[in-house]
Amino acid sequence: MDTADQAETPQVTIRSLEPADAAEASALAGAPGTFAGTLQLPDMPIASRLEFLQKTEPHSCRLVAIAQERVVGSAGLYTAGPSLRRMHVRMLGIGVAAQWQGRGVGRMLISRLLDWADNWAGVLRTELTVHADNDRAIGLYRAMGFVEEGRHLGYALKDGRYVDALFMARLHPRPPRIGAAPG
Ligand SMILES: CC(C)(COP(=O)(O)OP(=O)(O)OC[C@H]1O[C@@H](n2cnc3c(N)ncnc32)[C@H](O)[C@@H]1OP(=O)(O)O)[C@@H](O)C(=O)NCCC(=O)NCCS
Repeated sequence: MDTADQAETPQVTIRSLEPADAAEASALAGAPGTFAGTLQLPDMPIASRLEFLQKTEPHSCRLVAIAQERVVGSAGLYTAGPSLRRMHVRMLGIGVAAQWQGRGVGRMLISRLLDWADNWAGVLRTELTVHADNDRAIGLYRAMGFVEEGRHLGYALKDGRYVDALFMARLHPRPPRIGAAPG
């Protein structure tokens, strides 16, 4: 982004998703330009996602990106089921409003999630599933250290055709150790 773009770009801040953000975050998740890359459906009521978004979950991290006092992106890390043996794992989900895509908001959200995972929550493995035709998401995940581990064939119905999905994961680059010297 050059200086002229920066001057015109409203400031984006990242913070935790609060219950009061649920309606805006739900509208974003169901919006054209956002829902197709996930497993959301078109034309679902905002109310259908409110319970999930209003629930506070102590082992998850949920963030929103705010610009001009509006939710323009959201992302989260979620536990991968109740097993103690998978407590070192979190699953990543993310969506950025269409008019904000390609402007660094996704990178900001994932950077913040990975700081939480690496330095505060003891997460060793972060994993995700992404449609194989989602070049921007795959490019962003690779840039953030995720690698492809496998491919699901015919994973999801998307606008009248079945798309494959990639399974990607990132391992903690410097797992913390008890007694290790700082730095
Ligand atoms: C996928 C998504 C979250 C990415 O967020 P974003 O804010 O658009 O991405 P950013 O602007 O932060 O992109 C950062 C990086 O992604 C990569 N990238 C961006 N556009 C790309 C493209 N068209 N092709 C390949 N890589 C691309 C680049 O590595 C880029 O880094 P750079 O800025 O240093 O060049 C967002 O586009 C989105 O919400 N899409 C719809 C919903 C969705 O698909 N969610 C993901 C489900 S798995």
